[in-house]
Amino acid sequence: MYKDLKGKVVVITGASKGLGRAMAVRFGQEQAKVVINYRSSEEEGLEVLKEVQEAGGEGIIVRADVAKEDDVKNLVRTAVDHFGTLDIMINNAGMENPSPSHELSLEDWNRVININLTGTFLGSREAIKYFVENDIKGNVINMSSVHEMIPWPLFVHYAASKGGIKLMTETLALEYAPKGIRVNNIGPGAINTPINAEKFADPDKRADVESMIPLGYIGHPEEIAAVAAWLASSEASYVTGITLFADGGMTKYPEFQAGRG
Ligand code: BGC
Repeated sequence: MYKDLKGKVVVITGASKGLGRAMAVRFGQEQAKVVINYRSSEEEGLEVLKEVQEAGGEGIIVRADVAKEDDVKNLVRTAVDHFGTLDIMINNAGMENPSPSHELSLEDWNRVININLTGTFLGSREAIKYFVENDIKGNVINMSSVHEMIPWPLFVHYAASKGGIKLMTETLALEYAPKGIRVNNIGPGAINTPINAEKFADPDKRADVESMIPLGYIGHPEEIAAVAAWLASSEASYVTGITLFADGGMTKYPEFQAGRG
């Protein structure tokens, strides 16, 4: 628990499932005021709201498609109208779908780039605009991935979006550091979330992925939520412009583990 997160207003995009959901609950435990964004299922949004309240936080749900500028503006405006301010923006919404790159349609490319990269930009921009105009030393956390550095065949659009998030975050961190605004990335590895449910249900695929993780297991969403809480807290007051990898060591070239090479 981080004392200074109590009462803080946090917007989390894509909060009806997976990592977003785990972060919403964690910020609920921190007694924060959580703005739960969902895109398609109001029912899931309401379930998360209940979990946030049961955990000790307050919350509201707001529908928004992060790829749409007006939706993102409305999301941030609603947070401020309802809770009076904004302290933390977590741009988490994202998607992935594999395709051989030479067969990837422009439509599928655009869809992933629009949600993952443009959505993260729009959320960052709206939050930073509010921070600057209101002289708030706010906090932006973007959801990157180990694939901001590890190339990923069949996921060229996803890897490109995460590589883009890396430099976007570093640039925003540099640009707004003089105002005391911190901007960081979390870089999860393979985590047990709905995005991966099908893949990890297959024991062979699961074992294959586990063999690429030095710590030896698929991560839990709560382990990512813990990183988000720390980054958002004043314990991380001197940290900006980084990607904090929470990946069980996946980015450390696991194939070299036995001294090969
Ligand atoms: C993806 C997962 C994948 C992991 C490791 C994440 O960014 O969302 O599907 O298992 O990277 O490759």
